[in-house]
Amino acid sequence: MRRKKFLKIAGIGTGVLAFSPWLTSCITDNRVRSGTFSNKLPLPNEIRETAFELTASHADVKLTEELHLSGLQFNESIPGPTIRQNRGDDLNIRFKNEIGQDSIIHWHGLIVPPEMDGHPRDVISSGTYEYQFGLNQRAGTYWYHPHPHHITGEQVYKGLSGFFIIEDDEEKALNLPDGQYEIPLVIQDRRVNDSGEIVFNPSMPEQMMTGLLGDLILVNGMPSPYQEVEAGVYRLRILNGSNARIYNISFQDEVPFTVIGTDGGLLPEPIETSELLMAPGERADILVDFSKADSSSIQLISKPFEVPSGGGMMGMQNMMGSDGPEQGAGFSLMEFRIEGESQRNSIALPDQLSEANFPEATSADQTRPIQLDMQMMAGHTINGRQFEMERVDERVKQGDTEIWEFINNSNVPHPMHVHAVQFKVLERSGNRGLIPTETGWKDTVLVMPGETVRVIMKFDAPKGLYVFHCHNLEHEDNGMMANLE
Ligand code: C2O
Ligand code: CU
Ligand code: CU
Repeated sequence: MRRKKFLKIAGIGTGVLAFSPWLTSCITDNRVRSGTFSNKLPLPNEIRETAFELTASHADVKLTEELHLSGLQFNESIPGPTIRQNRGDDLNIRFKNEIGQDSIIHWHGLIVPPEMDGHPRDVISSGTYEYQFGLNQRAGTYWYHPHPHHITGEQVYKGLSGFFIIEDDEEKALNLPDGQYEIPLVIQDRRVNDSGEIVFNPSMPEQMMTGLLGDLILVNGMPSPYQEVEAGVYRLRILNGSNARIYNISFQDEVPFTVIGTDGGLLPEPIETSELLMAPGERADILVDFSKADSSSIQLISKPFEVPSGGGMMGMQNMMGSDGPEQGAGFSLMEFRIEGESQRNSIALPDQLSEANFPEATSADQTRPIQLDMQMMAGHTINGRQFEMERVDERVKQGDTEIWEFINNSNVPHPMHVHAVQFKVLERSGNRGLIPTETGWKDTVLVMPGETVRVIMKFDAPKGLYVFHCHNLEHEDNGMMANLE
């Protein structure tokens, strides 16, 4: 049934398809045919107070005439409100759980004490959880989402996530576009059934192999959105908040853009590019000059990209594929409508954006191999094991610097995420090299099939129990997670 919704265009190579009926646009030979982007992009409210509540509750939302979501919301908003704070702030956050299911909030990318980090063993089934922590880290685009074991994917998918932005003086000195010239964009794929309901129903192969790959793209919770902009420079903070889908972020007509930041804040230097791979959990901070567009509208797209098949069972991903368009397919995300001149028609960036202070590879106290496998019965494993709530899998010494080697022996991509730390990617095996965002501080790194990716990090967080895991949420929920003490 579901397959009927796809209008596959034959003979133009891989990843060429149209999302239909909800996303009526497509890419042919990397060129985008104009589609209908008729819904205004929602911009979530901001929370600037340092003491506030986040209430998770049920939501019944009519997104468009045809599209309905029986989902979950933070403070009656999908996505949740954007939390915007200053470095050095001390926060008091009361999480209220009214969804009738275990939950706990994790602050993705923040370095907070273990009992503030949203470890799955801290779930509450109702009532409140009090968070208190200080923000002693770099300005950047972080985010928050639930972290209960086995049901993180479902809760995030149904609407529970939001941006967590930290600002500081180093960044303010750059005078980057702000206010209406700074736009947060969370990109998420969803699946729609025949009656127009967004449903969470990963198939068996999706649970075991690919993760849920939906056939409808939402930006800030809205399908087929447009945003009106002036012909000038904008700062876009992009979050891949999808469960499993990877995007190759680009603009129509290969309009270039400048990557200035990623998971852990500003890059050391700006990097100009025309495409940027982003796996679930990753963030990119980019500047784009809309006066460089040829016409009065330009689409943000995901360009087709190749997923290496890794060792072993070739083509397994497609054979046992998911119900949505395959990983690596191309499609449109949203439209920017360009009207009028802008005051902000240029920006002078310094050669150096920020002081990085990455640890030297030679300073590492040890190297830790982290084997990522797919086992016939057990599913996805980390060092051969699946998550157990109380078993400590890796012990590191506070203050130590370590190199972790993520070794992907499976046939599917794994975006690996470590709590309580930011790391620097040292190298990636094979010929893909580093992604522009990987020149900065990261907390999530894409490890493609067959690849080994080495990262270096210094463990400075308060002592206690944290987790690390694959940020493909179906993989995580199926046990591709481990305890880090
Ligand atoms: Cu964004 Cu442990 O996750
Ligand atoms: Cu996290
Ligand atoms: Cu994975």
